[in-house]
Amino acid sequence: MLTDRNISLKPYNTFGLDVAADYLTHIRTPEDLEAVFSTSKFRLMKRLVLGGGSNILLTRHFAGLVIKVEIEGITIMDEDADNVLVKVGAGENWHQFVLWAVEKGYGGIENLSLIPGTVGAAPMQNIGAYGVEQESVFHSLEAYEIASGKVVRFYKEDCKFGYRYSAFKDTLKEKYIITDVYYRLSKQPTFNISYGNLKATLEDMGVDELSLVAISQAVINIRQSKLPDPIEIGNAGSFFKNPVILKKHYQSLQAAFDEVPGYEVSTDEIKVPAAWLIEKAGWKGYKNGEIGVHSKQPLVLVNFGGGQGQDIKNLSIEIQNSVHKKFGIALDAEVNII
Ligand code: EPU
Repeated sequence: MLTDRNISLKPYNTFGLDVAADYLTHIRTPEDLEAVFSTSKFRLMKRLVLGGGSNILLTRHFAGLVIKVEIEGITIMDEDADNVLVKVGAGENWHQFVLWAVEKGYGGIENLSLIPGTVGAAPMQNIGAYGVEQESVFHSLEAYEIASGKVVRFYKEDCKFGYRYSAFKDTLKEKYIITDVYYRLSKQPTFNISYGNLKATLEDMGVDELSLVAISQAVINIRQSKLPDPIEIGNAGSFFKNPVILKKHYQSLQAAFDEVPGYEVSTDEIKVPAAWLIEKAGWKGYKNGEIGVHSKQPLVLVNFGGGQGQDIKNLSIEIQNSVHKKFGIALDAEVNII
């Protein structure tokens, strides 16, 4: 077990915020977790589990122990003519796992190309993009139970997946550390290109025969054209969730604003793109010193360099207030604010 003291978390969060933690421990095997939690000093300490640090906003010094999960490995556990069951270490980079699957011809996660972060974080918030969520290929996961020191298996129904939601954000929060995730991928993939401009992008690329490689590349192209690369501009992807409102509310917005976009999610509920609300509230491309709102995708808040987490948090509150004032809609943060 390798533990650093009073260490900057700048390399460990995609906003690139330079805040420190009292301790940071690198977890390479589930046994490393056992070693950490057998020490009463660490067992009793405030904790923060980090994967790729791509969905977190650090606003101040972290007075506790940061647990950086670096468990690796991609192993085929079972297969038949149609499917493979793959066990993936929680510390594996998500996009590298997608590329591995695409190269092997295993379908199901190609639409989730280029999402930053680690495999362990994927079920936590049920990552999704371009019409696919990780729950559609999720089989189960293993997690270290802090109270008992045992590794426990959770199946799909235990995780209660929803839109950017799982029980690990809620009832199971802070009780477990995900060590491995099992995905069932398809050897006979069905392609899903119905979302947004995916089909048009494939056409522009001159693709006439769909393949996992082509879809993955199309998603990469779209993401690279709209979303800032955290290596160049600090960000954590979508800062807010897309709000779901009642149809009645949506109809009153349609009367007041032309062409408000919306997608039906149930018979009486509509999901409205937060990007549209934020843009119409005047924030797209906003810049204040070192922080701002991305010019191509207003759902993404950015740190141009030396920005502070507290300032980004304050900006997010200002945006929430102005969207609420203009549309009567409450935006919830998707990013974890620490
Ligand atoms: N829009 C605007 N102005 C803009 C950009 C978008 O008005 O500048 C409106 C348009 O109406 C557009 C709609 O927003 O049709 C939706 O935009 P987009 O398809 O780009 O998706 P999104 O709602 O902005 C969601 C996810 C992304 C995911 C994309 C693609 C959430 C919070 N975000 O974004 O996820 O990549 O769909 O599937 O659900 C993330 O979670 O970090 C993330 C990037």
